Amino acid sequence: MKQTTIHFIVIGNPIAHSKSPEIHQVFAAQTELDISYQRQYCPDDAESFTAVVEAFFHGGGVGANVTVPFKQVAYDVCLTRGGLSEHAKVAGAVNTLLTKDGALYGDNTDGQGLVNHMTRLGWPLAGMRVALLGAGGAARGVVLPLIQASIGELTIANRTPSKAETLVAELSAASPTINKHDINTCATAELTGEFDLIINATSIGLSGDTLPLADNLNCHYAYDMMYGRELPFLQHFAARKAQISEGYGMLIGQAALSFERWTGHPIDMAQATATLKKQH
Ligand code: ATR
Repeated sequence: MKQTTIHFIVIGNPIAHSKSPEIHQVFAAQTELDISYQRQYCPDDAESFTAVVEAFFHGGGVGANVTVPFKQVAYDVCLTRGGLSEHAKVAGAVNTLLTKDGALYGDNTDGQGLVNHMTRLGWPLAGMRVALLGAGGAARGVVLPLIQASIGELTIANRTPSKAETLVAELSAASPTINKHDINTCATAELTGEFDLIINATSIGLSGDTLPLADNLNCHYAYDMMYGRELPFLQHFAARKAQISEGYGMLIGQAALSFERWTGHPIDMAQATATLKKQH
């Protein structure tokens, strides 16, 4: 008997470049589910976003991913008329929408996707001294998952250090798991010494600028949340013999967690990653 097609979308602006449909089709093949996963363009305003979401779920849609620039809008919509997971609450952003008991529910799988990817790489997060570069939305989303992965110490460095301080104050107010006294902050140019892991969560890769990294800043592992382009941040630490990774595996990781939330089917990440690599 033919299965009913399960409908998913990813909402963004722009959206044509999104790799999510091909990733989710690999998950569908692996789990033998019949899915449709479409890119959904949306005008950049909250009313249009809300209308798209309502129409999709009203029409029987099961799950939606949310990407730039709608993650905070999606959070607001779930806050006022639905529910939010702890990760979404702390991140202040939603990348995964579903319905629970008939109401809209927002989750955020970005930070767990990052942690899962580093775990797959064999990077031993527990006890690590970690520096996180950036204090915007991308950085905000990964702090709780990093702390839940039992890292040893966290420093948040930002071009504008006051924004890192504000971020820490907001995160500790939002989650009992985050203690502001356990997180250091500083200006990026003043970050010095030896770290186990440095994560670039700034949007600098989009600008062509380079980060002002101190000469005596070193690490064993360097991760850039961007992917698919030349990343001077990674080149800098590769030249210093660090193990490096771009963020494509994080994209697959967050997608797999969304798929699991929607369908209840866990993803074999080694198989999915190998298939996606072959497709490129
Ligand atoms: P995202 O959602 O991608 O995190 P964002 O919320 O706009 O985007 O945050 C962008 C982050 O990248 C900020 O930490 C920003 O630093 P400031 O807070 O000082 O603005 C950082 N960033 C962006 N361009 C940068 C640049 N050219 N040099 C250094 N940091 C930069």
